[in-house]
Amino acid sequence: MTHQRPAAVIVLAAGEGTRMKSATPKVMHAIGGRTLLGHVVATARDLDPERLCVVVRHQGESVAAHAQELDGAVEIAWQDEVKGTGRAAWCALQALEASGELDGPVLVLAGDVPLLDAGTLTQLLEAHAADGNAVTALTTRVDDPTGYGRIVREEGTGLLARIVEERDASEAERALTEINTSVYAFDAGVLRDGLARLTDPQSQATANAQGEVYLTDVVAIAREHRAVRAVETDDAISVEGVNDRVQLAAMGAELNRRILESAMREGVTIVDPATTWIDVTVSLESDVTLLPGVQLHGVTHAESGAVIGPDTTLTDVRVGRGAHVVRSHALGAVLEAGVSVGPFAHLRPGTVVGPGAKVGGFVETKNAVIGAGSKVPHLSYVGDATIGEGTNIGAGVIVANYDGETKSHTEVGSHAFVGSDSVLVAPLTVADGAFVAAGSVVTRDVGPGDLAVARGQQRSIPGWVQRRRPGSASAQAAHAARTQELGDPSGPTDGDTTTEPHA
Ligand code: UD1
Ligand code: MG
Repeated sequence: MTHQRPAAVIVLAAGEGTRMKSATPKVMHAIGGRTLLGHVVATARDLDPERLCVVVRHQGESVAAHAQELDGAVEIAWQDEVKGTGRAAWCALQALEASGELDGPVLVLAGDVPLLDAGTLTQLLEAHAADGNAVTALTTRVDDPTGYGRIVREEGTGLLARIVEERDASEAERALTEINTSVYAFDAGVLRDGLARLTDPQSQATANAQGEVYLTDVVAIAREHRAVRAVETDDAISVEGVNDRVQLAAMGAELNRRILESAMREGVTIVDPATTWIDVTVSLESDVTLLPGVQLHGVTHAESGAVIGPDTTLTDVRVGRGAHVVRSHALGAVLEAGVSVGPFAHLRPGTVVGPGAKVGGFVETKNAVIGAGSKVPHLSYVGDATIGEGTNIGAGVIVANYDGETKSHTEVGSHAFVGSDSVLVAPLTVADGAFVAAGSVVTRDVGPGDLAVARGQQRSIPGWVQRRRPGSASAQAAHAARTQELGDPSGPTDGDTTTEPHA
């Protein structure tokens, strides 16, 4: 089957969304890492329409800005003070036809139907073209039709007679379980004529329970042109609109379920789907393993053999082949093949962990490039730093990148060794093959192969404990040790000794 390329897709997004009880416009609430409007605009774009128009009004500036950020080619139409889906569609058509009349099918979608997919819309367009309909409405059957417009079909022919809103419906009509999804294909001329007639002040178009101009009323008018039909989908959830936060959560869970299912069918192991959340924008290769409690957001991508989790949140992170990320939190990071991260690492934007490198427990990184095979295994902060290959950063090392006013860069070369509990005060260079003694506060560059020692030299005061803590358990232990080792219970009594520094 074929269909004509849509002359336009109109997305209705001007409603107040009162039932959300939110300062954020309804269509800007998000599920699966994308706003409701973002889902609908992406689906609309998949249909390759000639024009794509979003109608705004309530908090219109921010919805319009968001729509154009989503898709630079979106046209914005402003709905005026007259309310209702019919008025919204009319305002869109006015804007679209300012440059000449549209010709061909026009799809109208609500901006609050996030699971709608291009396949269903293509079927709608195909049916619209094949049957030569004036209007084709997408419908579905639900167990509880409360709140929806009901589909009234003509007896015998099964053609769509009209759509009646719940509040305007008779008891018999309310019992109907086939509902309007707010998704329609209109012939452009039919839509233009129908909306013009509803907009005519004589038309009594707002003589309904809500005092609004209903788009659904175009259906009855369109019957004067040609047949109006309904196409029924059995995937009721995919056409469900979000009206409140309960539905938002339910739709979010359903979207996630679908994302996980398709990932598993593509060869991803998901140990616990109930605690795994993946955005629509994430991509996973086959043989990635996700352990319980994983959240993957944004443009996160994981290559084959990566093992992520348990309890890990990654946003805009690239995870290389065979990398392991355990109980960690990362944003804007690149993890090359075979890296090991965590448990309890916090990787912030600009972190690049080179092939086979390790970032261990309680390590925070930011704007840090860690070379191949290098290790930052324990309790460190590495900010604004570049570390070469095969370098070891000891436990508790801090790269002090901030002097209270400016942030500066630290460079550590390849095969360097930074002893535990050192502070590298930026700006600083520790060259290739250089060593830093444990506990050093390094403020000056360290040359290739040099050992930097920047700490107080050790002083030992012989016999201090026996003199100053006589009779204590420590003094007794010292006495016993001296007796055993040296046969000299008194031990040295005067003179300090110093020791050579160890790295
Ligand atoms: C609408 C349909 C109903 C259908 C249901 C499916 C009408 C009259 N009713 O009811 O038959 O079963 O959707 O979910 O069309 N909007 C505007 N401008 C407005 C009012 C609404 O742009 O003045 C937009 C909203 O932002 C939303 C969409 O139209 O994206 C639907 O509006 P909503 O208020 O949710 O309509 P429903 O009462 O759900
Ligand atoms: Mg609705």
